[in-house]
Amino acid sequence: MLKGRHLVEPGNFSIEEMAGLFTLAEKIEADPLYLRESCRGKLLATLFFEPSTRTRLSFEAAMLRLGGACLGFAEPGSSSASKGESLADTIRTVSCYADAIVMRNPKEGAAMVASRYAEVPVVNGGDGGHHHPTQTLTDLLTIRRLRGHFDGLTVGFCGDLKFGRTVHSLAKALSRYTGIRLIFISPPELKVPDYITQGILKKAGTEYLETDHLEKVMGDLDVLYMTRVQRERFFNEEDYIRLKDSYILTTEKMKAARDDMIILHPLPRVNEIALEVDGDPRAAYFKQTKYGMYVRMALLSSLLGVV
Ligand code: CP
Repeated sequence: MLKGRHLVEPGNFSIEEMAGLFTLAEKIEADPLYLRESCRGKLLATLFFEPSTRTRLSFEAAMLRLGGACLGFAEPGSSSASKGESLADTIRTVSCYADAIVMRNPKEGAAMVASRYAEVPVVNGGDGGHHHPTQTLTDLLTIRRLRGHFDGLTVGFCGDLKFGRTVHSLAKALSRYTGIRLIFISPPELKVPDYITQGILKKAGTEYLETDHLEKVMGDLDVLYMTRVQRERFFNEEDYIRLKDSYILTTEKMKAARDDMIILHPLPRVNEIALEVDGDPRAAYFKQTKYGMYVRMALLSSLLGVV
Protein backbone atom coordinates (compact mmCIF):
# COMPACT_ATOMS: atom_id res chain seq x y z
CA MET A 1 0.00 0.00 0.00
CA LEU A 2 1.50 3.34 -1.03
CA LYS A 3 -1.36 5.51 0.29
CA GLY A 4 -0.03 8.39 2.40
CA ARG A 5 3.65 7.48 1.91
CA HIS A 6 6.55 9.82 1.09
CA LEU A 7 8.98 9.23 -1.80
CA VAL A 8 12.30 10.84 -0.89
CA GLU A 9 14.69 8.32 -2.43
CA PRO A 10 14.28 5.11 -4.46
CA GLY A 11 14.81 2.85 -1.44
CA ASN A 12 11.54 4.11 0.09
CA PHE A 13 9.62 1.65 -2.11
CA SER A 14 10.31 -2.08 -2.41
CA ILE A 15 10.94 -3.52 -5.86
CA GLU A 16 7.53 -5.21 -5.61
CA GLU A 17 5.88 -1.84 -4.92
CA MET A 18 7.70 -0.32 -7.88
CA ALA A 19 6.63 -3.23 -10.08
CA GLY A 20 3.03 -2.49 -9.03
CA LEU A 21 3.45 1.12 -10.16
CA PHE A 22 4.88 0.00 -13.52
CA THR A 23 1.92 -2.34 -14.08
CA LEU A 24 -0.48 0.50 -13.27
CA ALA A 25 1.40 2.90 -15.57
CA GLU A 26 1.20 0.33 -18.39
CA LYS A 27 -2.57 0.07 -17.88
CA ILE A 28 -2.84 3.86 -18.10
CA GLU A 29 -0.71 3.89 -21.26
CA ALA A 30 -2.93 1.21 -22.85
CA ASP A 31 -6.18 2.98 -21.89
CA PRO A 32 -5.89 6.76 -21.50
CA LEU A 33 -9.38 6.87 -19.93
CA TYR A 34 -8.39 4.51 -17.11
CA LEU A 35 -8.39 6.45 -13.76
CA ARG A 36 -9.37 9.60 -15.65
CA GLU A 37 -11.54 11.11 -12.90
CA SER A 38 -9.98 9.27 -9.97
CA CYS A 39 -8.40 12.38 -8.39
CA ARG A 40 -11.37 14.73 -8.82
CA GLY A 41 -11.39 17.12 -5.85
CA LYS A 42 -7.71 16.48 -4.97
CA LEU A 43 -4.99 19.13 -5.10
CA LEU A 44 -1.31 18.68 -5.91
CA ALA A 45 1.19 21.37 -4.82
CA THR A 46 4.29 21.69 -7.00
CA LEU A 47 6.98 23.62 -5.12
CA PHE A 48 9.94 24.20 -7.44
CA PHE A 49 12.87 26.06 -5.90
CA GLU A 50 14.94 25.15 -9.02
CA PRO A 51 14.08 25.23 -12.75
CA SER A 52 12.31 22.26 -14.33
CA THR A 53 10.42 21.43 -17.49
CA ARG A 54 9.73 17.69 -17.36
CA THR A 55 9.32 16.98 -13.67
CA ARG A 56 7.00 19.87 -12.88
CA LEU A 57 4.96 19.74 -16.07
CA SER A 58 4.66 15.95 -16.14
CA PHE A 59 3.41 15.97 -12.54
CA GLU A 60 0.93 18.72 -13.37
CA ALA A 61 -0.16 16.92 -16.55
CA ALA A 62 -0.51 13.70 -14.56
CA MET A 63 -2.70 15.34 -11.91
CA LEU A 64 -4.86 17.13 -14.48
CA ARG A 65 -5.30 13.91 -16.47
CA LEU A 66 -6.45 12.18 -13.27
CA GLY A 67 -9.12 14.86 -12.82
CA GLY A 68 -7.34 16.70 -9.99
CA ALA A 69 -5.94 20.23 -9.86
CA CYS A 70 -2.54 21.84 -9.19
CA LEU A 71 -1.18 24.88 -7.39
CA GLY A 72 2.35 26.00 -6.61
CA PHE A 73 5.32 27.99 -7.80
CA ALA A 74 8.01 27.45 -10.42
CA GLU A 75 10.73 29.60 -8.90
CA PRO A 76 11.39 30.53 -5.26
CA GLY A 77 11.42 34.29 -5.87
CA SER A 78 7.62 34.24 -6.03
CA SER A 79 7.25 32.45 -2.69
CA SER A 80 7.81 33.66 0.87
CA ALA A 81 11.06 31.69 0.92
CA SER A 82 12.47 34.87 -0.65
CA LYS A 83 11.43 36.71 2.55
CA GLY A 84 13.30 34.20 4.70
CA GLU A 85 10.56 31.70 5.51
CA SER A 86 11.98 28.33 6.53
CA LEU A 87 11.32 25.20 4.50
CA ALA A 88 9.60 23.65 7.52
CA ASP A 89 7.10 26.53 7.74
CA THR A 90 6.50 26.50 3.99
CA ILE A 91 5.73 22.79 4.08
CA ARG A 92 3.49 23.06 7.14
CA THR A 93 1.57 25.80 5.34
CA VAL A 94 1.20 23.97 2.03
CA SER A 95 0.08 20.85 3.93
CA CYS A 96 -3.01 22.87 4.93
CA TYR A 97 -3.93 23.45 1.26
CA ALA A 98 -2.91 20.42 -0.77
CA ASP A 99 -3.35 16.63 -0.70
CA ALA A 100 0.20 15.92 -1.90
CA ILE A 101 3.40 17.90 -2.45
CA VAL A 102 6.09 17.56 -5.12
CA MET A 103 9.18 19.60 -4.32
CA ARG A 104 12.47 20.33 -6.10
CA ASN A 105 15.13 22.07 -4.03
CA PRO A 106 18.84 22.75 -4.64
CA LYS A 107 19.75 21.58 -1.11
CA GLU A 108 20.59 17.92 -0.62
CA GLY A 109 18.35 16.48 2.09
CA ALA A 110 15.62 19.11 1.63
CA ALA A 111 13.03 16.50 0.65
CA MET A 112 13.79 14.49 3.78
CA VAL A 113 13.31 17.63 5.89
CA ALA A 114 10.04 18.39 4.09
CA SER A 115 8.75 14.86 4.71
CA ARG A 116 9.25 15.36 8.47
CA TYR A 117 7.03 18.46 8.55
CA ALA A 118 4.37 17.50 5.99
CA GLU A 119 0.99 16.09 6.85
CA VAL A 120 0.48 14.90 3.26
CA PRO A 121 2.71 12.76 0.98
CA VAL A 122 5.93 14.49 -0.14
CA VAL A 123 7.57 13.49 -3.41
CA ASN A 124 11.16 14.49 -4.03
CA GLY A 125 11.39 16.12 -7.46
CA GLY A 126 15.19 16.39 -7.09
CA ASP A 127 17.30 17.56 -4.13
CA GLY A 128 20.62 19.03 -5.26
CA GLY A 129 23.02 16.36 -6.53
CA HIS A 130 21.44 13.74 -4.27
CA HIS A 131 18.32 11.92 -5.54
CA HIS A 132 15.54 12.15 -8.12
CA PRO A 133 13.35 9.12 -7.42
CA THR A 134 10.54 9.82 -9.89
CA GLN A 135 13.12 10.11 -12.69
CA THR A 136 14.23 6.65 -11.55
CA LEU A 137 10.66 5.35 -11.81
CA THR A 138 10.58 6.86 -15.31
CA ASP A 139 13.90 5.25 -16.27
CA LEU A 140 12.95 1.84 -14.90
CA LEU A 141 9.56 1.86 -16.61
CA THR A 142 11.27 2.76 -19.90
CA ILE A 143 13.75 -0.10 -19.51
CA ARG A 144 10.93 -2.50 -18.61
CA ARG A 145 8.84 -1.44 -21.63
CA LEU A 146 11.71 -1.51 -24.13
CA ARG A 147 13.90 -4.33 -22.77
CA GLY A 148 11.27 -6.36 -20.92
CA HIS A 149 13.29 -6.99 -17.74
CA PHE A 150 16.03 -5.64 -15.45
CA ASP A 151 17.90 -8.73 -14.28
CA GLY A 152 21.20 -9.38 -16.06
CA LEU A 153 21.38 -6.05 -17.91
CA THR A 154 24.60 -4.10 -18.47
CA VAL A 155 23.86 -0.40 -18.02
CA GLY A 156 26.39 2.32 -18.92
CA PHE A 157 26.16 5.77 -17.33
CA CYS A 158 28.04 8.47 -19.25
CA GLY A 159 28.81 12.12 -18.49
CA ASP A 160 28.56 14.01 -15.22
CA LEU A 161 28.28 11.18 -12.72
CA LYS A 162 29.41 13.32 -9.79
CA PHE A 163 26.55 15.80 -9.72
CA GLY A 164 23.97 13.77 -11.67
CA ARG A 165 21.25 12.92 -9.15
CA THR A 166 19.40 10.82 -11.73
CA VAL A 167 22.49 8.62 -11.98
CA HIS A 168 22.78 8.24 -8.22
CA SER A 169 19.13 7.27 -7.86
CA LEU A 170 19.06 4.87 -10.81
CA ALA A 171 22.33 3.14 -9.83
CA LYS A 172 20.95 2.60 -6.33
CA ALA A 173 17.66 1.27 -7.67
CA LEU A 174 19.31 -1.08 -10.19
CA SER A 175 21.57 -2.55 -7.50
CA ARG A 176 18.48 -4.27 -6.10
CA TYR A 177 18.05 -6.47 -9.20
CA THR A 178 19.93 -9.69 -9.94
CA GLY A 179 22.97 -9.91 -12.22
CA ILE A 180 23.08 -6.20 -13.01
CA ARG A 181 26.41 -4.81 -14.28
CA LEU A 182 27.02 -1.06 -14.17
CA ILE A 183 29.67 0.76 -16.21
CA PHE A 184 30.43 4.35 -15.19
CA ILE A 185 31.96 6.43 -18.01
CA SER A 186 33.22 9.88 -16.99
CA PRO A 187 36.30 12.07 -16.77
CA PRO A 188 38.09 11.55 -13.42
CA GLU A 189 36.80 14.93 -12.14
CA LEU A 190 33.18 13.85 -12.63
CA LYS A 191 33.32 10.27 -11.41
CA VAL A 192 30.45 8.75 -9.47
CA PRO A 193 30.75 9.39 -5.70
CA ASP A 194 32.42 6.74 -3.55
CA TYR A 195 29.32 6.43 -1.40
CA ILE A 196 27.60 4.89 -4.43
CA THR A 197 30.41 2.54 -5.54
CA GLN A 198 32.17 1.72 -2.25
CA GLY A 199 28.97 1.95 -0.22
CA ILE A 200 25.75 0.98 -2.00
CA LEU A 201 27.09 -1.17 -4.86
CA LYS A 202 29.70 -3.07 -2.85
CA LYS A 203 27.14 -3.79 -0.13
CA ALA A 204 24.63 -5.03 -2.71
CA GLY A 205 27.28 -7.13 -4.48
CA THR A 206 26.63 -5.31 -7.76
CA GLU A 207 29.40 -5.62 -10.37
CA TYR A 208 30.67 -2.27 -11.62
CA LEU A 209 33.48 -0.78 -13.70
CA GLU A 210 34.76 2.79 -13.97
CA THR A 211 36.33 4.09 -17.20
CA ASP A 212 36.78 7.33 -19.14
CA HIS A 213 36.45 5.64 -22.54
CA LEU A 214 32.94 5.37 -24.01
CA GLU A 215 33.90 3.69 -27.31
CA LYS A 216 35.74 0.85 -25.52
CA VAL A 217 32.64 -0.29 -23.64
CA MET A 218 29.88 0.68 -26.10
CA GLY A 219 29.50 -2.84 -27.51
CA ASP A 220 28.92 -4.31 -24.01
CA LEU A 221 25.90 -2.17 -23.19
CA ASP A 222 22.18 -3.02 -23.10
CA VAL A 223 21.35 0.52 -21.98
CA LEU A 224 23.40 3.70 -22.43
CA TYR A 225 22.30 6.43 -19.99
CA MET A 226 23.70 9.76 -21.19
CA THR A 227 23.74 12.82 -18.91
CA ARG A 228 24.56 16.48 -19.28
CA VAL A 229 27.41 18.19 -17.46
CA GLN A 230 25.59 20.23 -14.81
CA ARG A 231 26.79 23.81 -15.12
CA GLU A 232 24.71 24.97 -12.12
CA ARG A 233 26.60 22.68 -9.72
CA PHE A 234 30.15 23.78 -10.67
CA PHE A 235 32.08 26.13 -8.42
CA ASN A 236 33.86 27.80 -11.34
CA GLU A 237 33.06 28.39 -15.01
CA GLU A 238 36.54 27.35 -16.24
CA ASP A 239 36.11 23.79 -14.99
CA TYR A 240 32.66 23.61 -16.58
CA ILE A 241 33.98 24.81 -19.96
CA ARG A 242 36.87 22.34 -19.83
CA LEU A 243 34.60 19.37 -19.06
CA LYS A 244 31.30 20.18 -20.75
CA ASP A 245 32.00 18.41 -24.05
CA SER A 246 33.81 15.39 -22.62
CA TYR A 247 31.38 13.05 -24.39
CA ILE A 248 29.28 13.74 -27.44
CA LEU A 249 27.31 10.77 -28.76
CA THR A 250 27.24 10.74 -32.57
CA THR A 251 25.96 8.34 -35.25
CA GLU A 252 29.60 7.38 -35.88
CA LYS A 253 30.03 6.31 -32.24
CA MET A 254 26.69 4.46 -32.35
CA LYS A 255 28.18 2.07 -34.97
CA ALA A 256 29.92 0.26 -32.11
CA ALA A 257 26.65 -0.24 -30.18
CA ARG A 258 24.48 -3.34 -30.32
CA ASP A 259 21.31 -3.27 -32.43
CA ASP A 260 19.13 -3.74 -29.35
CA MET A 261 20.90 -1.22 -27.10
CA ILE A 262 18.69 1.66 -26.00
CA ILE A 263 19.86 5.23 -25.36
CA LEU A 264 18.25 6.97 -22.39
CA HIS A 265 18.75 10.53 -21.14
CA PRO A 266 16.79 12.19 -18.33
CA LEU A 267 16.93 15.46 -20.32
CA PRO A 268 17.47 18.37 -20.67
CA ARG A 269 20.11 17.67 -23.32
CA VAL A 270 22.72 20.31 -24.02
CA ASN A 271 25.41 19.01 -26.37
CA GLU A 272 26.06 15.43 -25.28
CA ILE A 273 23.83 13.72 -27.86
CA ALA A 274 24.16 15.05 -31.41
CA LEU A 275 20.80 15.82 -33.01
CA GLU A 276 21.60 13.30 -35.77
CA VAL A 277 21.23 10.49 -33.19
CA ASP A 278 17.54 11.35 -32.60
CA GLY A 279 16.56 9.45 -35.77
CA ASP A 280 18.25 6.24 -34.59
CA PRO A 281 15.57 3.70 -33.50
CA ARG A 282 17.68 3.04 -30.40
CA ALA A 283 17.24 6.64 -29.21
CA ALA A 284 14.54 6.29 -26.54
CA TYR A 285 14.78 9.55 -24.61
CA PHE A 286 11.55 11.13 -25.82
CA LYS A 287 9.63 7.87 -25.24
CA GLN A 288 11.19 7.97 -21.76
CA THR A 289 9.74 11.46 -21.23
CA LYS A 290 6.24 10.17 -22.00
CA TYR A 291 6.63 7.17 -19.69
CA GLY A 292 7.48 9.73 -17.00
CA MET A 293 3.97 11.12 -17.16
CA TYR A 294 2.33 7.67 -17.01
CA VAL A 295 4.38 6.56 -14.03
CA ARG A 296 3.67 9.84 -12.20
CA MET A 297 -0.08 9.25 -12.82
CA ALA A 298 0.36 5.80 -11.29
CA LEU A 299 2.32 7.28 -8.37
CA LEU A 300 -0.14 10.08 -7.57
CA SER A 301 -3.19 7.84 -7.73
CA SER A 302 -1.42 5.37 -5.41
CA LEU A 303 -0.20 7.95 -2.87
CA LEU A 304 -3.66 9.50 -2.77
CA GLY A 305 -5.27 6.08 -2.29
CA VAL A 306 -7.68 6.29 -5.21
CA VAL A 307 -6.67 2.91 -6.75
N1 CP B 1 14.62 15.04 -16.07
C1 CP B 1 14.33 16.18 -15.39
O1 CP B 1 14.35 16.21 -14.14
O2 CP B 1 14.05 17.24 -16.19
P1 CP B 1 13.65 18.68 -15.65
O3 CP B 1 14.86 19.27 -14.96
O4 CP B 1 13.23 19.45 -16.87
O5 CP B 1 12.53 18.51 -14.66
